[in-house]
Amino acid sequence: MTDDTRPWPQEGRERQIYPSPVGWVGTDFVDNEMELLARLNPKTVMMMGDNPALPRMPERPCLLDFFRLRFGELTRRHLLVSAKRALDDGQSETVVIACLLHDIANGCLIRSDHGYWGAQLIAPYVSEEVAWAVKYHQALRYVPDPAVGYAYPDSYHRFFGADYQPPEYLMRDAAEAQGHKWHATARAVTLYDTYFFDDFPDVDPSELEGIIARNFRQPAEGLGFDGSPVAHMWRTMIWPNNFL
Ligand SMILES: [Fe+2]
Ligand SMILES: [Fe+2]
Repeated sequence: MTDDTRPWPQEGRERQIYPSPVGWVGTDFVDNEMELLARLNPKTVMMMGDNPALPRMPERPCLLDFFRLRFGELTRRHLLVSAKRALDDGQSETVVIACLLHDIANGCLIRSDHGYWGAQLIAPYVSEEVAWAVKYHQALRYVPDPAVGYAYPDSYHRFFGADYQPPEYLMRDAAEAQGHKWHATARAVTLYDTYFFDDFPDVDPSELEGIIARNFRQPAEGLGFDGSPVAHMWRTMIWPNNFL
C-alpha cells in the first residue's frame, strides 16, 4: 500500500468509539455515551476519521476496495459467488452486476431493509434496472415462483422460524414487482441468491472487473467524494466509527 505514509488522525490520543445506535438498540449492549463523554480530556477524544483497527481505504476508493477492505467475509463471498454463478450460466451483464450488488448494504452498512438501502447506495452508478432489481429482490425472496423453479428458501425457515410471515409492505412490493418489465431481472437475482459456499471455489474479485467497468460508473473522485446524493452512505462505510 503506497498510502501508508499518511498520518493517522487524532494521533497520540485515546480514541473512543460509540457504535451507531442502529447496530445495538434492542441488544444487550449497554448504552455508554454519557460515560464516554465524561472521560473526554485533551488526551481522550471521540474517534473521527481512519480507524487504525481497520484496513486503510485509498483516497479515491472504488467498488472493489469496499469488497476487499470493508465487507464482512460472509457477505463478500456470497456476492462474489452469486455473481460468478450467474456469469458462468451465461446470464446478461445486467443480471451479473445485480447479483454482485444485491446484498451490498449488508457488507458494512445496514441489514434491516437491505434491498432498499442497497438500491439507493448504487443508484447513481448503475442502470435503473439494476437498482430496481436490487430493491425488489428483498421482497421477491419470500414469494415462490414455480414457473422458474424458485421456492421459498429453506434458509429463511432456519433464519426466521417456520411460521414467519413477511410484513405487509414486502408483500405489497412483491406484488408490484410481479407485472413489472424488469421482474425477470429481480427474479434472476433471487435464483442466484443462495448460500452454496461449501461446494463453490473462491472467486477472485478481479474476475469481475470487466463487468464492473462496463456496468458500474465509478466516480473519478472516488466513492464517497463525488458529491452524489448517496456519497455520505459510502463515507459511512469508510469511517463506520465516526462519532458524528
Ligand atoms: Fe438479499
Ligand atoms: Fe443474498
